[in-house]
Amino acid sequence: MQNKAVPELTIRPMTEQDVAAAVEIEQMCQPQPWTAEHFHNEVAEITFSSPLVAVRGDKTVGFLISWYMADVVEITNVAVHPEFRRQGIGKKLLEAVFEQAMRKNCSGVHLEVRAGNSGAIALYEGAGFVRTGTRQKYYADNNEDAVLMSKVLA
Ligand SMILES: CC(C)(COP(=O)(O)OP(=O)(O)OC[C@H]1O[C@@H](n2cnc3c(N)ncnc32)[C@H](O)[C@@H]1OP(=O)(O)O)[C@@H](O)C(=O)NCCC(=O)NCCS
Repeated sequence: MQNKAVPELTIRPMTEQDVAAAVEIEQMCQPQPWTAEHFHNEVAEITFSSPLVAVRGDKTVGFLISWYMADVVEITNVAVHPEFRRQGIGKKLLEAVFEQAMRKNCSGVHLEVRAGNSGAIALYEGAGFVRTGTRQKYYADNNEDAVLMSKVLA
């Protein structure tokens, strides 16, 4: 029997050609999904925004959007295709942001996450984020609290 090798994972900047795949993943993952226009704006915004995609073989399997403001980075969206979860892709996307942020001499990375999103919180805590606060009833669709998390960069 022939052994099918798993194609390598690549993390690279998102382009216009990736937007349709990102929207598809977004719709499967988020309760209030961003639109295609939102992703197009992120790709076009070259001063502050840094949208990344994770690609395995020729399939886009995840993305992460971050914003660089002064010396800090804010992660505004991250998602991995449901069929490709628990393979370390979310972790690799975060590591790519940390590398990029350190190259730009940023002091820290910040994000907010739904209080009930235990999977994402586990990912962030595993990557060195700590809880720094709560925004009560922050999410309009279900009044869920947002947990604020930060990671200090060396
Ligand atoms: C959160 C998300 C991005 C994680 O992506 P992923 O590629 O599956 O994460 P990884 O495989 O890199 O996980 C790394 C570690 O994080 C933790 N983790 C990730 N998902 C988890 C889950 N559902 N439950 C518990 N721990 C989890 C584990 O410690 C995991 O390591 P392990 O698999 O060796 O146990 C993905 O579940 C997702 O897209 N969710 C929907 C969108 C979303 O919630 N985005 C975050 C909004 S703030």
